[in-house]
Amino acid sequence: MSSPITILAVLVATVAVVVLPAEGARAFFVFGDSLVDNGNNNYLVTTARADSPPYGIDYPTRRPTGRFSNGYNIPDLISQALGAESTLAYLNPELRGEKLLVGANFASAGIGILNDTGIQFANIIRIYQQLGFFEQYQRRVSGLIGEDETIQLVNGALVLITLGGNDFVNNYFLTPITIRRLQFNLQDYSKYLISEYKKILMRLYDLGARRVLVTGTGPLGCVPAVLATRSRNGECAVEPQRAAAIFNPLLVQMIGALNQEIGSNVFVAVNAMEMQNDFITNPQAFGLLIPKLHLHSNLT
Ligand SMILES: *[C@@H]1O[C@H](CO)[C@@H](O)[C@H](O)[C@H]1NC(C)=O
Repeated sequence: MSSPITILAVLVATVAVVVLPAEGARAFFVFGDSLVDNGNNNYLVTTARADSPPYGIDYPTRRPTGRFSNGYNIPDLISQALGAESTLAYLNPELRGEKLLVGANFASAGIGILNDTGIQFANIIRIYQQLGFFEQYQRRVSGLIGEDETIQLVNGALVLITLGGNDFVNNYFLTPITIRRLQFNLQDYSKYLISEYKKILMRLYDLGARRVLVTGTGPLGCVPAVLATRSRNGECAVEPQRAAAIFNPLLVQMIGALNQEIGSNVFVAVNAMEMQNDFITNPQAFGLLIPKLHLHSNLT
């Protein structure tokens, strides 16, 4: 088995090869929750924030950036694979002029598919507001390069959307009794989430997105906040695990149907469950010694 150092060396070599100048790289847009937030919440009055250590300890600057990660997050790695610099948070004042052409990150920790998810975090950018900012972004870019070029930029862009985890962890399962729990069993709640998610994806399509990665949820019962509050003996909590097992196949189904309606494979289902399970079941292969501590500290 390879040592962690070998793996690190391989990763560094790969990154060095794929990082090319930003010219010509396709634009990249990001929507969703803390798993993909690049710092928008730093500009908001909210408790859902990642502006203190240990966030950022492995980032090149060794400082918290607003990413809910010790280092790079998934959007950073995708930007690197595109040969582009990381997209800036939409609320970052440095996002103007030429920088706008790289794309933008609209994600905000704490949000979900539903408008009532994450209400405890008060002031966060809910998904429909993120889509509103995407419209505003397009008007700004039109002023810069013209309307036709803007449509081309958006149509040619890669989009990532990550939603759903908080609708369980920070809504349905937030406390032993929640309104959503009284209203729905897990199966019906998941169906409701999927029907609302479909509307969001259709709106994204209407706004010009033509290649969209849609992540399913990871093992929700194994995230540290859930382990801390709901786990017996450190095992992943049963009900949130069941939620993910119900939600993910419904998401894949909905995406297939939506692509068929549109007549093109615009939306691509990403199996986040399998990726994260790889870390949990085989941590050494990824250079991790204590997998559970390396997972996202709190799903927001
Ligand atoms: C959530 O809010 C948006 C507007 O902010 C609205 O269009 C949408 O219908 C709402 N969703 C639900 C399920 O109420």
